[in-house]
Amino acid sequence: MTRKLFVTTALPYANAAFHIGHIMEYVQADIWVRYQRMQGEEVHFVCADDSHGAPIMISAEKAGLSPQAFVAQIAAGRKQYLDGFHISFDNWHSTDGPENHQLSQEIYRRLRDGSHNGDLRLITSKTIEQFYDPVKNMFLADRYIKGECPKCGAKDQYGDSCEACGAVYAPTELKNPYSALSGATPVLKSSEHFFFRLSDPACVNFLREWALGEANGKPRLQAEVANKAREWLEGKEGEDSGLGDWDISRDAPYFGIEIPDAPGKYFYVWLDAPVGYLASLKNYFGKKGLDFDAFMADPATEQYHFIGKDIVYFHTLFWPAMLHFSGMKTPDSVFVHGFLTLSGEKMSKSRGTGLSPLRYLELGMNPEWLRYYLAAKLNAKVEDLDFNPEDFVARVNSDLIGKYINIASRAAGFISKKFDGVLTDPRARSSNPFWNSLQQGAAEQISQAYEAREFGKAVRQIMALADEINSYVDQQKPWVLAKDESQKALLQDVCSDLLLSFWQLSIFLSPVLPALSRKVAAFFGIERDLVWSDLQQTPQKIGVYEHLMQRVDAAMLDALFEPVTAAKAQAAPATTTAAAATAAIEPLAEEIKIDDFAKVDLRIALIVDCELVEGSDKLLRLTLDAGEGRLRNVFSGIKSAYQPADLKGKLTVLVANLAPRKMKFGISEGMVLAASAADEKADPGLYVLNPWPGAKPGMRVR
Ligand code: 2FM
Ligand code: ZN
Repeated sequence: MTRKLFVTTALPYANAAFHIGHIMEYVQADIWVRYQRMQGEEVHFVCADDSHGAPIMISAEKAGLSPQAFVAQIAAGRKQYLDGFHISFDNWHSTDGPENHQLSQEIYRRLRDGSHNGDLRLITSKTIEQFYDPVKNMFLADRYIKGECPKCGAKDQYGDSCEACGAVYAPTELKNPYSALSGATPVLKSSEHFFFRLSDPACVNFLREWALGEANGKPRLQAEVANKAREWLEGKEGEDSGLGDWDISRDAPYFGIEIPDAPGKYFYVWLDAPVGYLASLKNYFGKKGLDFDAFMADPATEQYHFIGKDIVYFHTLFWPAMLHFSGMKTPDSVFVHGFLTLSGEKMSKSRGTGLSPLRYLELGMNPEWLRYYLAAKLNAKVEDLDFNPEDFVARVNSDLIGKYINIASRAAGFISKKFDGVLTDPRARSSNPFWNSLQQGAAEQISQAYEAREFGKAVRQIMALADEINSYVDQQKPWVLAKDESQKALLQDVCSDLLLSFWQLSIFLSPVLPALSRKVAAFFGIERDLVWSDLQQTPQKIGVYEHLMQRVDAAMLDALFEPVTAAKAQAAPATTTAAAATAAIEPLAEEIKIDDFAKVDLRIALIVDCELVEGSDKLLRLTLDAGEGRLRNVFSGIKSAYQPADLKGKLTVLVANLAPRKMKFGISEGMVLAASAADEKADPGLYVLNPWPGAKPGMRVR
């Protein structure tokens, strides 16, 4: 029976262009989806922009745009990436679309009224006190409140934790707090909030069954994900157990969906974001004239979400509970992947440092190299995947081209020139070494690996077959057979075997290399996408062979990583206008005299070394030469924007006469200067100063 599959990837926030982590997730899901389509399954693969929330509202304001116009601009930039990397979503929508407003409000009403759940009412309200910005007239989330650390007194720390001493606290504990949006001193104000009663025993029981149970005869969640869910549900030893209620409301002004019967209250973005999965599917079904309600009500429908490990909580607790208690279908599973690291280092998610996917495409690098590389390294575990440039070049050139593509290039010339493109039928002879082995066993194993998202395993099996085929070429030596007229029939059989095994490998690789496999299909005279049952076909003719794929030139990798600043510019949303820049500036500080300024001794310093600080996700350790005949150690909270390699060897500006400061990780002897937006967390933008060429370490800046 044909399976009915509803598949999504996580919905990206509509406040920045895609980064490479998005592309990795989309490629992973796309390979799985293409494999299912090749099996003839009915698949609906959708995504959407996650459009709501305070950070997007604030970014839009800074850009001088309405939130709607801002997210529309971001949405317009999506296609080049999706087409560029052959991601075959059936639909791309927005959580601000009418379907999502209607579905989110409907789910809320059902939870509130207990209408689909035997009268169990799961929404409650409570008055809470929160910081409020009296200039902006809005409540402030923790990330928009700054002040002095209550523990160590460091200035300009965020409302949740201190970068200098690592302390964690509530925003109300900050000394001299101020709003990162306006600079004003926030005031405490109370407001009514709505909560989803996740702590209700019915909820906890349901979630335990859902998360730790089975679906379709298999554990529903990956082992490591189920363990996490168990911890959340039951609590760790010695800690409070159980789930807290979930605050699902935010006060106006907020870019979001209005809560029914509660004027001025909006759903917290994480309530309506996953509903966006359903909204995108509904929008798609509407365009196709398909029945959304019937599809979602069909018990045979399977629902899967590909997501990153950072958003498991939302997808294994909130989302299934919302769906279940509003009488809707719950996901069959969520497929969780790890992060992408770059030569062992974590890439910055929001700042566009690292591997820019757009730059990759602009350099003319083949998107299928990356798809192949990711596939070769992906498995079904929640493991990080490392992108290593040398490894990338080796796998593409030695395996993909050297082992697979080469099979065709070694045999096609003989068949074209000597046999007019005609292939012999392997089933008509007993000598064929591959046909049977490929048919039996291998296809089934590869198929199972794809189904289980063990793509690395599938690729290894395919490459092992390619190795066998290549040793067969070396044994049979078609170039020797070609010189002996009496061996002509054998030459045709050997080359036919090679091309037919190439045909089969191409079918196996088709989910990973969709564009290439179309070219291969055309080479064998078939003008459509390959499907799994094509394994039963034995093409009888080939067309003119044109080289199917170029090798990757290592210099391209240098170009991809070298100009970090250019890559950064690419990754920034194209919304920065002069008006936006003015809107974003922080209020000016109090006027000073030239003597006040002269007290600050600024020096040019060379960043001799830069390294990660173990245990800190904010700091980098810089070793600076400010021309003093000694080196200085400076900690700087710039890890979110830079990787050590970006900074090493560069010049910058140091506050050289700042009193040394003892920090959790050591003594910091000064401070480097960086420019940032008023709210650098909401608006990724932190730029270390770099002097004009010619400046030398030790020169004073005045
Ligand atoms: O973490 C994120 O990028 C969120 N925008 C993911 C949302 S997934 C779904 F719930 F919409
Ligand atoms: Zn502190």
